[in-house]
Amino acid sequence: MDLKLISIFLCLVLLHSSKAFGDHFTNQIDFETYIVRLEFHDQVLSNSKDLHHLHLSFLPTNSNHSSRILYSYRHVFNGFAAALSSDEVKEMEKKPGFVSARPQRVFQMHTTHSPSFLGLHQNVGLWNASNSGKGVIIGLLDSGITPQHPSFNDKGMPNPPDKWKGKCEFNVTTYCNKKLIGARNFALGALSPADEDGHGTHTSSTAAGNFVDGANFLGNANGTAVGIAPRAHVAMYRVCSIDCQESDVIAGLDAAIEDGVDVISISLGLKLPPPLYNDYLAVGTYSAMEKGIFVSCSAGNSGPTTDTVINGAPWILTVGASTTDRKISALAVLGNGAKYEGESAFQPTNFSQKLLPLVNGDDCDDVSNLSHVKGKIVLCSVSGYQSRTDKGGVVKNAGGAGMILMNDDSRGSTIISEYHVLPTTHISYNDGKMIINYMKSASKPVATISFKGTRIGDKHAPTVAYFSSRGPFDPSPGILKPDIIGPGVNILAAWPTSIEAETASTSASSMFHFLSGTSMSCPHLAGVAALLKSAHPDWSPAAIKSAIMTTADFINLGNDPIQDETLQPSDLFSLGSGHVNPSRANDPGLIYDIQPEDYIPYLCGLNYTDDQVSAIVKKKVHCKSSIPQSELNYPSFSIPKDPSAQTYTRTVTNVGEAISAYAVKVFGLKGVEVTVTPKILKFTALNQKASYNVTVKTLNFTAHSEGYIIWSSDRHSVRSPIEAFPHVSLI
Ligand SMILES: *[C@@H]1O[C@H](CO)[C@@H](O)[C@H](O)[C@H]1NC(C)=O
Ligand SMILES: *[C@@H]1O[C@H](CO)[C@@H](O)[C@H](O)[C@H]1NC(C)=O
Ligand SMILES: *[C@@H]1O[C@H](CO)[C@@H](O)[C@H](O)[C@H]1NC(C)=O
Ligand SMILES: *[C@@H]1O[C@H](CO)[C@@H](O)[C@H](O)[C@H]1NC(C)=O
Ligand SMILES: *[C@@H]1O[C@H](CO)[C@@H](O)[C@H](O)[C@H]1NC(C)=O
Ligand SMILES: *[C@@H]1O[C@H](CO)[C@@H](O)[C@H](O)[C@H]1NC(C)=O
Ligand SMILES: *[C@@H]1O[C@H](CO)[C@@H](O)[C@H](O)[C@H]1NC(C)=O
Ligand SMILES: *[C@@H]1O[C@H](CO)[C@@H](O)[C@H](O)[C@H]1NC(C)=O
Ligand SMILES: *[C@@H]1O[C@H](CO)[C@@H](O)[C@H](O)[C@H]1NC(C)=O
Repeated sequence: MDLKLISIFLCLVLLHSSKAFGDHFTNQIDFETYIVRLEFHDQVLSNSKDLHHLHLSFLPTNSNHSSRILYSYRHVFNGFAAALSSDEVKEMEKKPGFVSARPQRVFQMHTTHSPSFLGLHQNVGLWNASNSGKGVIIGLLDSGITPQHPSFNDKGMPNPPDKWKGKCEFNVTTYCNKKLIGARNFALGALSPADEDGHGTHTSSTAAGNFVDGANFLGNANGTAVGIAPRAHVAMYRVCSIDCQESDVIAGLDAAIEDGVDVISISLGLKLPPPLYNDYLAVGTYSAMEKGIFVSCSAGNSGPTTDTVINGAPWILTVGASTTDRKISALAVLGNGAKYEGESAFQPTNFSQKLLPLVNGDDCDDVSNLSHVKGKIVLCSVSGYQSRTDKGGVVKNAGGAGMILMNDDSRGSTIISEYHVLPTTHISYNDGKMIINYMKSASKPVATISFKGTRIGDKHAPTVAYFSSRGPFDPSPGILKPDIIGPGVNILAAWPTSIEAETASTSASSMFHFLSGTSMSCPHLAGVAALLKSAHPDWSPAAIKSAIMTTADFINLGNDPIQDETLQPSDLFSLGSGHVNPSRANDPGLIYDIQPEDYIPYLCGLNYTDDQVSAIVKKKVHCKSSIPQSELNYPSFSIPKDPSAQTYTRTVTNVGEAISAYAVKVFGLKGVEVTVTPKILKFTALNQKASYNVTVKTLNFTAHSEGYIIWSSDRHSVRSPIEAFPHVSLI
């Protein structure tokens, strides 16, 4: 079974059924952790003593104040988390300065449905991480960190910048060093920032792990492990134990802003996206962005269903997950000579290549259905309730010799490399169908599995992983989300050796471990942002984001359009601007910049009330001017189809050559007439701005239509995808 999902599910059940909180409330009143928001208060907020005092004044007078407040929040918003009864909240609502209160939510970490994957490591070769990320601090909100892991050694690291105010809350202070410069614990019930899950250790090392030679899993895939920004500093904010409570997550975010991080990586989120004013990660990261902090978030693992992307506020980089070009190859070899390449991180060297009878075990969830498999190769489907590796355990118990594990339709071609308990290959849905056809046609179907080790150079890569959440982003469909995709399948990174790899029956422990999920792609992009921030300290978060998006790749290694799990060209709701290309992002030519105050007319255009907008931007706003969502100066376009021609203005800033000229071309967009004016943008100075208009006239309302515009100069190519969607599907 999928242990992490179960633990999250159990916690949700506990949260709803047993509301008692803390041991000092022994009577029968139901207490819950509420998140209370108060009016913004400039003076009070600058002094933390006054702030706490203000927050205490909202509590019932007869209660033991200091034990009731879990956290006082300052940056994310003025407010606090406290154990309260609904009656107490009702009393509180009468006090002046009160804005809102609601019970906290639970966030999930964004690993895929099966919590752990074992395997081999490939250095992330496309990425220029040479000596980079220097002077940049990446803060992660996650499950903690393993301090003495080799990935967090501080060889070659400079001292942290002077502005750093963070803390090391390990009881052994030498656990922090020049690489791991801060570690704090906000996880309810946890004693220290030490990682008891593995997730936070993995994401931290992906973003900014130092060089570790001879990294491997159980002797496999020996090589050098390194994060994307090897010279960046790491600060861990532990906000998860068995799950991630909202009050803890906000407290971690508040502290990261206070401590002075430059980049925040958040690989967790809610199941569904609330409106931005009620999404406290959106609200809190707005404060971060205002202070120049770049925020990378996972897009969620609810794909391939559309309309599932979360963490989509326009000031966040929303990251989907893709495959890499490495396979841990295991061939399914059939009696008719056909071979289908799948993957397995368990690569036995002594498996007989003799063809064995091949039988169907359906979902292979239950040993009582597998009386016919002894000594045979068993075809199993990933559907059903057991995890992939647990199905292997079932087949092994039933006496099966090997397993061919085929995807279902929705998982398509996304293959996970895992440490199975018996000879196994995990194959795509299409290949599985071919094998079923063979089994129907052959009188005595036979097969074997042939293990081929690590192969690099899969021409289909990158493909969008099936689990990567898809747009449109419900709370604001006029912003194209996800923004970008990055490596998120079979990623090997640091792992606490104290935690056993979660396989059905092996007790494999290793310093490096395979995981898949948008949780894994998010810290890759946080690392890229750190590289860019280090190379361009004057770039705003929006500028860094624009550089990443307009230079992304949209063709795969085989020179075809990037595909999704169906192996059909991916649409923009899966792909966003494309697959990150860090070296190109370092030199984008033009950027689409956005100042914090530019988001106000955008938020007003979402038809939020003045109070709702004020709650996000944390100052009194009267919505006088508003813009349609698609008018925000975003590096991509998501445009509702409309009977009348619509015009959107974009402003680009020249960060390439002082004297340069860019000409525009429009690609794709069937059923839509797109006109760009002017057609040439000329620059005579760096940081000079120029504006252009895009006018969209709909010819065919029924279909989505997709395409892009490219502004090209001699040296640069600045690409913006355009999604024009049928108006009706919006609401
Ligand atoms: C109030 O709670 C704090 C923290 O739990 C505790 O130290 C203190 O003794 C309590 N005071 C009273 C009067 O119960
Ligand atoms: C790598 O990045 C550094 C710093 O931005 C840059 O100077 C160097 O040219 C880059 N190297 C490559 C191969 O792109
Ligand atoms: C540090 O804390 C851990 C529990 O988090 C404990 O097991 C360990 O003994 C402590 N070490 C020291 C030196 O206090
Ligand atoms: C990994 O490679 C290094 C250097 O190439 C070598 O010294 C080491 O023995 C190798 N380890 C394994 C487990 O193969
Ligand atoms: C292969 O080797 C493993 C251990 O090295 C052993 O447990 C297993 O029985 C062997 N399998 C065969 C088919 O010889
Ligand atoms: C497997 O066995 C269970 C009972 O153990 C039964 O309910 C189920 O229908 C069987 N599934 C298949 C595919 O035969
Ligand atoms: C906001 O309200 C206006 C006027 O009712 C409407 O035209 C527009 O579509 C609404 N925008 C959104 C994002 O709902
Ligand atoms: C863009 O369109 C607006 C009106 O929608 C107009 O005022 C402006 O001059 C146009 N800008 C350019 C560069 O064409
Ligand atoms: C509009 O798009 C739909 C769906 O792609 C297509 O079936 C139809 O033929 C198109 N109509 C026109 C007029 O192009």
